[in-house]
Amino acid sequence: MLQTSPLTHAQKLPGQLLAWYDRHHRELPWRVSPAAAKAGKRADPYHIWLSEVMLQQTTVQAVKPYFAKFLGLWPEVTDLAAAPVDDVMAAWAGLGYYARARNLKKCAEAVASEHGGLFPDTEDGLRALPGIGDYTSAAVAAIAFNRQSAVMDGNVERVISRLYAIDAPLPGSKPLMKAKVAELTPADRPGDFAQAMMDLGATICTPKRPACALCPFRDDCLAFAGHDPERFPVKAAKKDKPVRLGAAFVAVTPDGEILLRRRVASGLLGGMTEVPTTAWTSRIDGGSTVDHAPFQADWEACGTVTHVFTHFELRLSIFRAQTPKVIVDDGWWEPVANLEAQALPTVMKKAIAQAIPLAFV
Ligand code: ADE
Repeated sequence: MLQTSPLTHAQKLPGQLLAWYDRHHRELPWRVSPAAAKAGKRADPYHIWLSEVMLQQTTVQAVKPYFAKFLGLWPEVTDLAAAPVDDVMAAWAGLGYYARARNLKKCAEAVASEHGGLFPDTEDGLRALPGIGDYTSAAVAAIAFNRQSAVMDGNVERVISRLYAIDAPLPGSKPLMKAKVAELTPADRPGDFAQAMMDLGATICTPKRPACALCPFRDDCLAFAGHDPERFPVKAAKKDKPVRLGAAFVAVTPDGEILLRRRVASGLLGGMTEVPTTAWTSRIDGGSTVDHAPFQADWEACGTVTHVFTHFELRLSIFRAQTPKVIVDDGWWEPVANLEAQALPTVMKKAIAQAIPLAFV
């Protein structure tokens, strides 16, 4: 009698997921649709790289206008390579983690000068570029070059941890999860598979109330079988972030000019624009009072602003004053109407908006 053994996950799940993706993929500005990909159209590696770097900062919705802005200003990677770094920082402002913007520019320069304007087409070649780590190299290799690379971001971790009901907590369980993704990643359409895993995580296998009834992996999902998919991924208990205190000083002239400075090039928000602030170095550094103002003026307290960085939470006391245009040696006066064009990180926009509510409307 003919014996049939059940198919392995690697034999059946990629096909099920790709069939789902063919029907339910998200249309994204940097993406080539599965139908176009099957007809031989390839995504532009520059678009994929740019979008993947941006998507490490924020959501698809928030990335879309930044992606459009960058392509409008710098249609090719060689244009980005030739751009003044300050313009790149200003265009990036609001996405956060500004070292990424510096590395973006360095990577574009390396592609332009060392690779003739063409991105390397392997995971290893990509990882050798400035600012490209394991995630980005795998994502660009798979999506732009159809390499069989295992791509794992937060969405994929959620899908995999549920499919296999992985009890070990993140981040320690990452290597195990990556091995599972590698097992499943097919030789045929690996780029679409990677994007499909991300779309599944973003639209069906969501953190809360996943839509398991619609999931192509439902019949094999151990978390679904256990009736508690939300339990996964298990995460190691988070330590509370330390709190740091500081003050920010918003000085405005009667003509509507605001005092700005440039932060030192290295360190947190290096090279970005700011209003004068204290150093935010320690929990209670005494630097959150009006005594730390950059010069004498009629400073008025106008509340606090909280901003969460990767390693600490910052609570800034905001002070504002109307002042004559005093001479300052480490800053400049900028019309408030020009603020949008400055390389102001989000925490600084919040500080200024606290003092001047209409600054960014
Ligand atoms: N999130 C990060 N990269 C993505 C991609 N390529 N497709 C969908 N979501 C993503």
